[in-house]
Amino acid sequence: MTTLNTILTTTLGIDYPIIGGAMYPCSNPELVAAVSQVGGIGILQPLTLVHVHELGFREGVRQIRSLTDKPIGMNVLTEKSSEKYLERMSEWIDIALEEGIRFFVSSLGNPKWIVDRVAPEGGIVYHDVTERKWADKAADAGVHGLIAVNGQAGGHTGSRSPAELLEEIADIGLPVVCAGGVGDANAFRHALELGYVGVQMGTRLIATNECTSPEEYKEAIVKAHASDIVLTNRITGVPVSVIRTPYVEKIGTTAGPIARWLLAHPRTKYWMRGIYMFRAGMRLKKNMHHGMSHRDYYCAGESVEGVETVESVKTIIDRFVASGPPKS
Ligand SMILES: Cc1cc2nc3c(=O)[nH]c(=O)nc-3n(C[C@H](O)[C@H](O)[C@H](O)COP(=O)(O)O)c2cc1C
Repeated sequence: MTTLNTILTTTLGIDYPIIGGAMYPCSNPELVAAVSQVGGIGILQPLTLVHVHELGFREGVRQIRSLTDKPIGMNVLTEKSSEKYLERMSEWIDIALEEGIRFFVSSLGNPKWIVDRVAPEGGIVYHDVTERKWADKAADAGVHGLIAVNGQAGGHTGSRSPAELLEEIADIGLPVVCAGGVGDANAFRHALELGYVGVQMGTRLIATNECTSPEEYKEAIVKAHASDIVLTNRITGVPVSVIRTPYVEKIGTTAGPIARWLLAHPRTKYWMRGIYMFRAGMRLKKNMHHGMSHRDYYCAGESVEGVETVESVKTIIDRFVASGPPKS
């Protein structure tokens, strides 16, 4: 038994309470596998496997499986966009279960249908939440744990500090994982000291040898400070954290009037968000082959502050683990 054991490690059968968060479009199979292989748990992002890496979903899962036999997880974006999308996501969940996946990280929307589908098979569901009302909804849906996405997180960020958010949702009685702001060993240990059962990292893992995102992106993360992170809704239609570059400064961080109008209407909102997601994925695919241009976005959270160099996932996780158990 290591002293880093928490309910997260014992429930999932992993060594360290560290989740490699799903990232569209950065979660390549090698990165997901690397986090699991060294004792955390990597979360696959289905749209990244299928659209960015052009793998069939089962093929993508098996590619990760060929690199590690340790537990891996799956990200399920539950926001109701279209019946067709939900059907496809539901088929992917069935395949994931067939391939032995038992950990699901859901975000957006109501996770009840996921819990109902996977719990009878021994599946565990943790749901991303940014505030109390979503946490209550997720608890009512029967999730097994919460991932508290705070205001420092990369991707679709929250608004609270790690301590505030934990205090707001702790009495629900579910295990809570900290997502956002964990870029170095101090932040990892601090999250455990606050009472979190683990951390979910995104940004730190982009600047690794195993991530196949462009080198310019990794270097931008290494160079950036927390004060360089700004929110823009020009990428997915809702606020996403990015590194402030001269291009971001020039075009601003608010979607144009037509996009805003389409995003405000329930009928066109999901369609518009789908287009944004598709564009981000296509852009990364282009960048992987042709490098980045000054017009590209570098999505990242404030945890850039703790990232000093591009290194292997193992080096990072070993350093976190060596920093010792939290002081109680
Ligand atoms: C580029 C990027 C893409 C992300 N895409 C997703 C996603 O597709 N699904 C999801 O649930 N979370 C996504 N996230 C959130 C991460 O899984 C994780 O919660 C977050 O990055 C934690 O904050 P950190 O970046 O400070 O470590 C993304 C984060 C980043 C930086």
